[in-house]
Amino acid sequence: MMGIAALHAILRELLMRLDKFLSNNTPYSRSQAHRLIHAGEVTVNGEIIKKTDHKINGTEQVLLNKQQILTQSVRYLMLNKPVGYVSANHDSENPTVIDLLDEINKSSLQIVGRLDKDTTRLVLITDDGEWNHKITAPASKCKKTYFVTLADPISQETVALFNQGVLLDGEKKLTAPAELELVNSYQARLTISEGKYHQVKRMFAAAGNKVIALHREKIGNLLLDSTLASGQYRSLTHQEVQGIFND
Ligand code: URA
Repeated sequence: MMGIAALHAILRELLMRLDKFLSNNTPYSRSQAHRLIHAGEVTVNGEIIKKTDHKINGTEQVLLNKQQILTQSVRYLMLNKPVGYVSANHDSENPTVIDLLDEINKSSLQIVGRLDKDTTRLVLITDDGEWNHKITAPASKCKKTYFVTLADPISQETVALFNQGVLLDGEKKLTAPAELELVNSYQARLTISEGKYHQVKRMFAAAGNKVIALHREKIGNLLLDSTLASGQYRSLTHQEVQGIFND
């Protein structure tokens, strides 16, 4: 029999705040949604609701200025991942990136290219499996840019090595040419077009160095929105969804 805690977890997954529902399914931002709700412009099943954290499950009739808001079935989200969160839908020991989302039907969300628990910043999440596949399939060679901090100074040989391709521990083939741009002696931007397990850390390990901090800044043409604080997320615009792929 299902326990009370498990039942609560399922119910929580199915519920969403009214302000979030509005900002996800209309062009309005979360703060604009607050103003509209406080102004009494929003009804849920015929009742004016002025509480921005009023919980809905997606089956209600929600009207804004007497116009029905229809849910957008496909979601494309950009999250600023904090340290300590794992890139998984469920984990028995750690909080997950999905836990940070105030969304309904979380089980249909997919993480587009995982980050390690201690890696931060840009994570994309969607329920469009085809879009996910287009970005993550090895054949698409989608570029990812990481900001890396190293334990030891970065040598010019490492720049050349990454450009030629490097043999990772346990692999038979060299990595594809990658671009390493030095920011200072200990920090650099690395752009890779593959997504092997722990790739950036293993590339620097192969060059005799050690990654001590790793942030993903960019996927394809899409940069992390600098207005998103750690742990915050937003929907992508139509242009961002379409424009992410390299030409
Ligand atoms: N490479 C890594 O080593 N870790 C990540 O999280 C992403 C790329």
